[in-house]
This record gives sequence, structure tokens and C-alpha cells, in this order.
Amino acid sequence: MPGRRRELTFRFLAEPGDVNYGGKVFGGAVMKWIDQAAYALAVGWSGRYAVTVHVGGLEFERPIAIGHLVEVRARLMRTGRTSMHIGVEVKAADPRRGEAPGRTTHCIVVFVALDEAGRPTEVPPFEPRTDEERALEAHARHVAELRAALDAERAAFLARLEPAARLESEL
Ligand SMILES: CC(C)(COP(=O)(O)OP(=O)(O)OC[C@H]1O[C@@H](n2cnc3c(N)ncnc32)[C@H](O)[C@@H]1OP(=O)(O)O)[C@@H](O)C(=O)NCCC(=O)NCCS
Repeated sequence: MPGRRRELTFRFLAEPGDVNYGGKVFGGAVMKWIDQAAYALAVGWSGRYAVTVHVGGLEFERPIAIGHLVEVRARLMRTGRTSMHIGVEVKAADPRRGEAPGRTTHCIVVFVALDEAGRPTEVPPFEPRTDEERALEAHARHVAELRAALDAERAAFLARLEPAARLESEL
């Protein structure tokens, strides 16, 4: 039912097919898991199809080895009118050791719910119920405010880049 499930966790083993050229898990595989977990949470929360519009703060803090047990935890942090800000934490551990999994990555993914015509559509509002959820929401809000300057810099950069790109394509 929409507006109910505030978090979910995927657990699985990193497979040989996820390997990069250095023998560890490919960064693109980790990004796919992040997007999938956040997608599952976003469509469950909104009851709608949803698309990724932003991924922020993605850092690979340590590598994941093939055969390690991976945990991808997605938590709703904040909603706007049509957007859902979802924190995703990836942890991994060697299952042979039985140790607590260590964080390898954290980021915030923003999904937008779409109606049948592909237009942004309203989502149930997220109302934090615990101190932890209030802290998650405050963090997501603060990060979004800090992004304003980066967004302006990006827009200015792309505006400068575009004329050059057009010239190149005309050659
Ligand atoms: C999703 C999409 C239809 C939204 O279109 P839009 O013209 O930006 O729509 P709006 O301006 O009404 O914004 C809709 C919501 O998205 C949010 N949003 C849009 N771009 C955003 C960004 N880069 N970062 C964070 N939020 C963003 C807006 O803040 C708004 O949230 P709110 O309703 O909660 O306030 C359009 O951006 C799109 O199709 N993007 C491509 C999505 C996609 O293909 N994803 C897969 C990547 S391969």
C-alpha cells in the first residue's frame, strides 16, 4: 500500500559477473544496486512508476570483493510534492568471517513519481516519526540547500560547453 514502507534492504552475494578489471566489484554494479533498491522503495512509497533524477554524494569508500555478502539499505529521507529523497547505504562483509558488514558507499538518490502520461505526480508526504527520521529529513533538506550553488555552477559550465559541442558536431 502506498505511503507505508519507509525502508527496505536487499541482501545478496557479489557474483563473479560483477567483477571489474582489478578483481573487485565493478563500480557500475554498485550503482545499479543502489538505483534498484531506491527504485523499489520509491515505487512502493508512491504506488507509481518513478524515475531517477539525481544521485548525490556517491563515494566508493572501500572495494567489495567477489563472494562477499552485500547489504543495500534504502531509506526514505524526505518527500517533496512529486519527489522522494532516498538515502542508500551499501555494506559488505566476508560471510566466512561472520563479522558485521562495513559501509562501502552512501548516497542520496532522488526519484520522481510519474503518472500514466509521464508527468510528475504527487506522492504521499513523508512525516518523520522518530528522532532518527527527523535527522534523516533535516540532512536531506540541508544537502538540497547546499546543492543550489553546485547546480548554478553546473548550469553555467554546460552553457559554456554547449556552443563548443555544437561547433564540433558541425565539423
Ligand atoms: C522526471 C522528469 C519528468 C521531471 O521533469 P521536470 O520538468 O524536472 O519536472 P518538475 O520541474 O515538475 O520537477 C519534478 C520534481 O523533480 C524534482 N527534480 C527535478 N530535477 C531534479 C534534480 N536534478 N534534483 C533533484 N530534484 C529534481 C523537482 O524538484 C520536483 O520535485 P517536487 O515536485 O517534489 O518539488 C524529467 O526530469 C525527466 O524525465 N528526467 C529524466 C529521468 C530519467 O530518464 N531517469 C533515468 C535516468 S537514465
